[in-house]
Amino acid sequence: MGDFFNSKELLINGIRKLKLSKIPAPEVDARILLSNAINYKNIIYMHNDILISKKEKKIFYNYLVKRIQGKPVSRIIGSRNFWKNNFLINKYTLDPRPDTEIIVDVVTKTYGKSSNSIQILDLGSGSGCIGLSIIDEIKNATLLSLDVCKQALKQLDKNAKRLKLSKQSYCSNVNWFENRWIENVKLITQNENLFLKNKFDIIVCNPPYIKSSDIEKLQTEVKNYDPLLSLDGGLDGCDSYRAIFKNLREILADEGTCFFEIGYNLFENIKFLLEKSNFELIKVHKDFNGHSRVLEIK
Ligand SMILES: C[S@@+](CC[C@H](N)C(=O)[O-])C[C@H]1O[C@@H](n2cnc3c(N)ncnc32)[C@H](O)[C@@H]1O
Repeated sequence: MGDFFNSKELLINGIRKLKLSKIPAPEVDARILLSNAINYKNIIYMHNDILISKKEKKIFYNYLVKRIQGKPVSRIIGSRNFWKNNFLINKYTLDPRPDTEIIVDVVTKTYGKSSNSIQILDLGSGSGCIGLSIIDEIKNATLLSLDVCKQALKQLDKNAKRLKLSKQSYCSNVNWFENRWIENVKLITQNENLFLKNKFDIIVCNPPYIKSSDIEKLQTEVKNYDPLLSLDGGLDGCDSYRAIFKNLREILADEGTCFFEIGYNLFENIKFLLEKSNFELIKVHKDFNGHSRVLEIK
């Protein structure tokens, strides 16, 4: 075979190496890494008989080393599948989580068939996985994505282009801890033709919600690779919710609804904050482990 190698042989080798280093899902990880190393569109299986070049083998083995050193697969390949699409991520964006698909599921089930034009705000948009997944399903929707991190917004912009959603979407750099943040949002909706009004029908948000003192206890893969800015929720994990709830009603349409992801242990604290801010808790959506994960509020 000269300078070529067989995919089955490399896959078996890769799985063995990952297993020996006690990587939790060696089969899945090796398949994804090999598929990526050779730019193969689908996931490679044992039965696929593909010739792999020396250069591709080297890339695959480099990937394995990174994985063994603890780097998550998504960070190695620079993307993550979320809902129905693949999202590019970088070191400034959170690695999208399966639990976060719950917001997308609830919103698309509720509004997916609507023929009205729907204006959506995604607060703390990161890679754009929530907002972009939603407008990909609701055809008459427009999206404003906001994040304090400019490099995360750049990645979101790339994702919007890849998914051909740029025409429905606009993103901007806003910090919800600044007093004038709501005024800034109003200015955006006034100045951008994409938006027909300055209030939103749907507001989605997955803010940072880990208690500062818990950050050290997180898994290495999270602690070392997800940006602190996307994790740290302050002393009680609720800093961002407090700041956001304060004046949010000013930009929520009369019939509008908000969907907030919350930390699994924050339900009671956030319920209290909601009451204080005059929001009504409409429904609690549970995650795959039965924890209260998404709060639907008005
Ligand atoms: C938990 S991540 C969620 C990212 C993405 N929406 C997702 O679900 O994967 C929180 C996001 O909020 C952003 N963020 C943190 N503090 C912020 C602030 N003060 N104002 C605006 N965005 C902020 C972070 O940069 C990060 O992208």
